[in-house]
Amino acid sequence: MTHDMNTSHPVDLAQFLNTAWSALAPQIVADKRKAQVVTLSTVGQGGAPAARSVVLRANDRSRASVDIFTDAATPKCAEITNDPRAALTLWHADFQLQLRLSGTIEIIEGTQAHAAWSSLPDLALPNYGVSPSPGSNIPTPTSYTRQPDQARFAILRMTLFDMDVVSLAAPIHIRAFYERRDGWRGLWRVP
Ligand SMILES: Cc1cc2nc3c(=O)[nH]c(=O)nc-3n(C[C@H](O)[C@H](O)[C@H](O)COP(=O)(O)O)c2cc1C
Repeated sequence: MTHDMNTSHPVDLAQFLNTAWSALAPQIVADKRKAQVVTLSTVGQGGAPAARSVVLRANDRSRASVDIFTDAATPKCAEITNDPRAALTLWHADFQLQLRLSGTIEIIEGTQAHAAWSSLPDLALPNYGVSPSPGSNIPTPTSYTRQPDQARFAILRMTLFDMDVVSLAAPIHIRAFYERRDGWRGLWRVP
């Protein structure tokens, strides 16, 4: 990533939104420690917030959506089925940018998820098909097996309602709020 927010201050809302979408670009990295990790929050059982780390896999600015891959047997999928509202939080250190996104998640499985499954490296396939299912109690730390199962692969497609963007790149911090319902025009906000 070559973009450096330290040398380019956003001059208008549209440019700032472009920077935000750049921060949402999925990074294809050989070293998984360099992947862009984000926090996905859902409405947990009983209505309490539930949050976990996930990796951004794709985005589509034309429909304002981002994709995450998961095992369909994880508890988060049941939570999303129960209530599709979600929040996604990300700190992009290179851009010195925080993004807070809200929206709803659609779970995409089966033939619609086939292309994404086919694009996964072999090493990643066993992440989808752990038995017993993720979150189950087990007697020892290794009392589980990993067997790739395409039927367990799911894309979580989050369609955004709004986006809150904070930049700490310049001495004067900058914040803007963008909403789908006003065509992502945006408003400046006090950080
Ligand atoms: C750095 C990191 C990246 C992760 N990426 C993903 C991911 O892309 N998809 C996913 O389902 N779980 C991912 N996990 C595991 C989740 O954080 C979580 O433990 C698991 O999905 C079960 O979540 P749930 O019980 O809320 O469903 C990741 C964990 C870490 C530490």
